[in-house]
Amino acid sequence: MRVPNKPKNDVAKVEWRNRQPYASAFDDVYFSTDNGLLETDYVFLQGNHLQSRWQNLTAKNFTIAETGFGTGLNFLCAVKLWLETTPQDAALHFISVEKYPLNLPDITAALTMWPQLQGFSEPLLAQYVQLISGVETITLFNNRIRLTILIGDATERLSQIENKIDAWFLDGFAPVKNPDMWQAVLFEEMARLSYPTTTFSTFTSAGEVRRALIKAGFLVSKQTGFGKKREMLIGYFVGNTHDA
Ligand SMILES: C[S@@+](CC[C@H](N)C(=O)[O-])C[C@H]1O[C@@H](n2cnc3c(N)ncnc32)[C@H](O)[C@@H]1O
Repeated sequence: MRVPNKPKNDVAKVEWRNRQPYASAFDDVYFSTDNGLLETDYVFLQGNHLQSRWQNLTAKNFTIAETGFGTGLNFLCAVKLWLETTPQDAALHFISVEKYPLNLPDITAALTMWPQLQGFSEPLLAQYVQLISGVETITLFNNRIRLTILIGDATERLSQIENKIDAWFLDGFAPVKNPDMWQAVLFEEMARLSYPTTTFSTFTSAGEVRRALIKAGFLVSKQTGFGKKREMLIGYFVGNTHDA
């Protein structure tokens, strides 16, 4: 699909610190330096109960939306779990919004950190340039995976879609380092696109994020965070009238 009014594409400025990708513009990491792979599994896959939901999948489709595609690590971990747990005729649509996409050499370097994902990252990298130069959606793994990358600001791009979302991966740099993304309007867009029972998880436990999610209609719980992070947030959508 071609995008008629594609927003200006600001490429990420990635710095490498101790062989880990680092965003100097935000003074923040792309993933936990403790172990990005385990962090993704804990925060996003387990945080949204994806394994049990997918093992008991009754529908043929499932949609995840993410704020911040970054290196694609969350995407690849979700793809791996999907292909391992769901029937051959089930399709995952993964929609990610990314304001500053990595260029091909940087994302390639980042993904070489995970040899165990090589079988998943190679097909992504083969089509990645299209995704950052105007093609919004690609399909992978015999159409079992649809990947849409919406280039631009998370809130702005989410306000332009109508897809109903089953699970949200609220990534993006830490709220204190990237306050522009973590605005109330983002959570209002999430609410608009959620079903009752749509889940979310995020690595942060920032009070303003928790309060804004509750205000937008999500039931929010704190749980132990990954690595050095004391707490993180998980929950699900209960409706706009909820005011817990
Ligand atoms: C911590 S990284 C995400 C890591 C990623 N999910 C992964 O699996 O590698 C945060 C990402 O959010 C993106 N980002 C920052 N502000 C944004 C915004 N306002 N809208 C969309 N993306 C944003 C950054 O460019 C960066 O790629």
